[in-house]
Amino acid sequence: MKDNIILIGFMGAGKTSIGEHYANQLKKVLLDTDHLIETAAGMPVSQIFETRGEAAFRAAETGVLKRLLEDTDDAVISVGGGLPLREENRMILSQLGTVVFLRVTRETVLERLKGDTTRPLLQGDDPDKKIDELLAHRNPIYEAVAHRIVDVDDKTPAEIVAELEKRQR
Ligand code: S3P
Repeated sequence: MKDNIILIGFMGAGKTSIGEHYANQLKKVLLDTDHLIETAAGMPVSQIFETRGEAAFRAAETGVLKRLLEDTDDAVISVGGGLPLREENRMILSQLGTVVFLRVTRETVLERLKGDTTRPLLQGDDPDKKIDELLAHRNPIYEAVAHRIVDVDDKTPAEIVAELEKRQR
């Protein structure tokens, strides 16, 4: 297994801000699958969903993961909330490094994502219900692929990183 640290979790769990903190602390590079896909496509995720469809976005996620497996070691990698759902992706994740599940409650997700316009999956009539459905479906999948789980509600990125570091030793 490689030496990367991979952050997975639901939208709004704080994967990017915790990733930034963690990468700074460990003096590692931070990579983010959504950003890598956006850069390659030259447009934001929401526009990829709109113009090319979700299936194209999911294919791009698998493509990025395969490339990371080939050429990346010793980085902190934050991945989109839906990426661990594909079995093929989970196989790659487990070879890519230590998978850390940033677990968040529905209350925190609702609070953080209220009014969000950047997540295409939450733009329907009843985003709260959608969040409940997605959380119920995804949390067992995140738990199954994770090497480590940390509850992130009400904690700052610094506290979460300190907790992960303490448990490492
Ligand atoms: C998605 C999460 C998003 C992004 C896309 C789909 C998902 O990333 O990949 O909107 O299916 O949960 P974040 O988890 O960083 O918000």
